[in-house]
Amino acid sequence: MAILIDGKAVSQKVKDEVRAEIERDKLSIGLAVVIVGNNQASRVYVNNKKKACEVCGIKSFEYALPEETTEEELLELVDTLNEDKNINGILVQLPLPKQINEEHIIERISPLKDVDAFHATNVGKIMIGNYAFLPCTPAGVMELIHSTGTEISGKECVVIGRSNIVGKPMAMLLLHENATVTICHSRTKDLAEVCRRADILVSAVGKADFVTADMVKEGAVVIDVGMNRDADNKLCGDVRFDEVEKKASYITPVPGGVGPMTIAMLMKNTLMAKRIQG
Ligand code: GUN
Repeated sequence: MAILIDGKAVSQKVKDEVRAEIERDKLSIGLAVVIVGNNQASRVYVNNKKKACEVCGIKSFEYALPEETTEEELLELVDTLNEDKNINGILVQLPLPKQINEEHIIERISPLKDVDAFHATNVGKIMIGNYAFLPCTPAGVMELIHSTGTEISGKECVVIGRSNIVGKPMAMLLLHENATVTICHSRTKDLAEVCRRADILVSAVGKADFVTADMVKEGAVVIDVGMNRDADNKLCGDVRFDEVEKKASYITPVPGGVGPMTIAMLMKNTLMAKRIQG
């Protein structure tokens, strides 16, 4: 039976460290949190991010814009926040309403305030391996794997999903720690066979019950990045937990696994933003 990886506990440790550093150096740090429209999941994420700011001693400034906001209006807000000396980090919650091109918005955020590490400049730095901002969710996953004491170097790691936010940077961070990394996606042939090779399996698909026990090697570390709703509207991940926990050595729950880590790493990035802005 797998050991549960406690994302709440690991994330609390990261937030405690951020808070201690901010208190020690008496830093004044501001994070702008921008939400556009009425996406319910986004509202929950944004509230959790603001709560984490409070815990860490970071000032959060919320900008809640209506669903019909134009791209031009949002770009103007980003310009204002880029210039604001009291704002060290800018977070624009995704997804955005369809009339707004997300790429245009991300590219307008100053790379020095890009605490999500979504800007092409920061993505490029992550690729090279010389970076200040961590990609929040993948960096949180790395912390969770480290918390198990599992050696990553030389291991077979399989990432399911190739998004810019999770799959691609996840593969990079594992590669930086000398794993042999495979990225799987919707066109992958014999997905189950590829996944069964994994010593460490990371699923970032966004489909409930996607990862079944036959896709998991005995003793694998299984990390579930999925945030889905099941038939009863209950929060669940990508992994069929009941059957996979019988095969894995370590497994993350949903909720309480990767989710809290993403937010903790955002706090770490906001502190880093203050540091690199001087
Ligand atoms: N939407 C889903 N995940 C994220 C995230 O990590 N950052 C932002 N800005 N939006 C998201």
